[in-house]
Amino acid sequence: MTTIIKDTIEYIKQIFKDDFSGHDFFHSLRVYQMATNIAKKENADVFIVQLASLLHDVDDRKLSPATYKSKERVISFLNTHNVDKHIIDRVCKIIDEVSFNGTDTVIPSSIEAKCVQDADRLDAMGAIGIARAFAYGGSHNRAIYNPEIKPRTDMNKNEYHTYNSTTINHFYEKLFLLKYMMNTSTAKEIAEYREKYMKSFLDEFMAEWDGKN
Ligand code: ADP
Ligand code: NI
Repeated sequence: MTTIIKDTIEYIKQIFKDDFSGHDFFHSLRVYQMATNIAKKENADVFIVQLASLLHDVDDRKLSPATYKSKERVISFLNTHNVDKHIIDRVCKIIDEVSFNGTDTVIPSSIEAKCVQDADRLDAMGAIGIARAFAYGGSHNRAIYNPEIKPRTDMNKNEYHTYNSTTINHFYEKLFLLKYMMNTSTAKEIAEYREKYMKSFLDEFMAEWDGKN
C-alpha cells in the first residue's frame, strides 16, 4: 500500500469518527475494498479508484453541505500530500458522478467512476445496507414505517432529497432500483444476491406488521 493511500485512510478515520448515519469510516473502507476488487477485474486505474473511493463521502452533500460543491476538503487534503493536479481533477470528477439522485442520477463517464459508484451502491444493499438504511433514517428523524406515507419511485434530484419519507419506503425509492443501475458485471452479480436478501427481509417485516408471522 502506498503512503498516500495509508494517509488517506488515516484522514477519513478522523473525518468520520462521529458519524452514526451509516456513513462511518467503515463504510468508506468497505467501498475502497470493493472498488479495488472491481477495478482489478475491469482493468481500471486502481490508484485513482482507491483515492476516489476513500474520499467519496468527505465533501458529500448530506455530510458536508458547505463544501460539497467546491470539494475543498478533498482538494486541500490531496494538495497537502503533493498529489498532481490532473489526478486531483480526476478524483473530483469521479466523486461528482457517484451519488444517487433519483431520476437525475448520471451514468459515470469513466470506468474508474463506474467502479466507485458500483462499490458505493453495493454497500447500500444486503444486510449491511439494511443496517445502514435504518441508521440513516434514525439519525434523520425518519419513521421506520408508516403505511399512510406512500413510496415514490419517480423522484428527480430535488424531490428525492426533500421528500420526507420512511426508511421502509427507501427500499422502494432507492435500494430496489440499484440492481438495475450497476455498471459492471462483477457488481451486477453481487447486487442480485444482496437484493434477494433485502426482499426476504421486507417480506418478513410486512408479514410481522400484518400479524401473519
Ligand atoms: P449516495 O451518495 O448514493 O446517497 P451514500 O454512500 O451517501 O450514497 O449512502 C447512502 C446511504 O444512506 C445508503 O445506505 C442509504 O440506504 C442511506 N440512505 C440515504 N437516504 C436514505 C433515506 N431517505 N432513508 C434511509 N436511508 C437512506
Ligand atoms: Ni458512500
